[in-house]
Parts: sequence; C-alpha cells; structure tokens
Amino acid sequence: MKIAIGNDHVGYYLKDAVLEVLVQRGIEVIDVGSYDDQSCDYPVYGEKVGRLVANKDADLGIVLCGTGVGISIAANKVKGIRAVVCSEPYSAKLSRMHNDSNVLGMGSRVIGPELAKMIVEQWLDAEFEAGRHSRRVDLIKTIESKEE
Ligand code: RB5
Repeated sequence: MKIAIGNDHVGYYLKDAVLEVLVQRGIEVIDVGSYDDQSCDYPVYGEKVGRLVANKDADLGIVLCGTGVGISIAANKVKGIRAVVCSEPYSAKLSRMHNDSNVLGMGSRVIGPELAKMIVEQWLDAEFEAGRHSRRVDLIKTIESKEE
C-alpha cells in the first residue's frame, strides 16, 4: 500500500498526526509537500496528489489544508479522483464503502490531530462494497467523461 500526502502551510499542522498512523501501519508514503508552515498555494499540492493517485503511482491520497476543502477541490479536478472532506470517521468510512473515495481531505482549522488519526484509521480500514454502489460510482465517471 502506497499513499500520497499533500498539504499547504495550514494543513501542515495535521501532517505529523497523519504520518504517525501511516508509518505505524507500514504504509509507504509519497510526501509531495509542502514541508513547513510557510505560506503556499493548496491547489499545487492537491493536483500533485490527485495525479499520483489517478496514474496509479499511489493507491490512495490524503490532502490537508485549513478546511480540507480547497485542496480537495483541486484534487477532484484530476480525472478519476473522488476526494472527500471529512471531519468525522463515519463519513470517511462510508465514503470508502459507498463512494470508493480515493483521496481523503481534512482541515487543521476544523479538527484536531487525534480526531484526524481516527478518521484516517476508519478510512483505511473500510473497503468499497461494490454491488449497487458500483453502478452509482460508474454514473459519476460518466459525468466526468462528458467533460472531455
Ligand atoms: C489558507 O489560508 C486556506 O485558505 C487554506 O488552507 C484552505 O483552508 C483552503 O481551502
């Protein structure tokens, strides 16, 4: 399992907590930055993570900014990405099971490190249920293909 992680200067404050979970699980991490809390632009890192996941250079991605929103929007602009912003574990888990989310977004101004760890754990433990959910995810892909 390989996970790409990206963040801006605000999301940086959640990064250590997320890395702790990933390292503990023996997951290989591709860290696209940023690497400190110096002001930078979240779309740069959202796109980088999105491309790594879409190209299958990473299995999943995690993106962090102040709210988790901007960097997730950026990741979602890459074809094949289903990025979700989660502030609690239930949505994170269901986003894997029903929506086959492949990028998880979180905000350091919204949640603290312990909740972030719990969210990551639930997201990683859940699996896509396929079945009727495949039809719905396929419909999402159809919308995407209309944009080409
Ligand atoms: C940066 O101030 C902030 O806008 C960014 O981290 C994020 O919250 C955007 O969605």
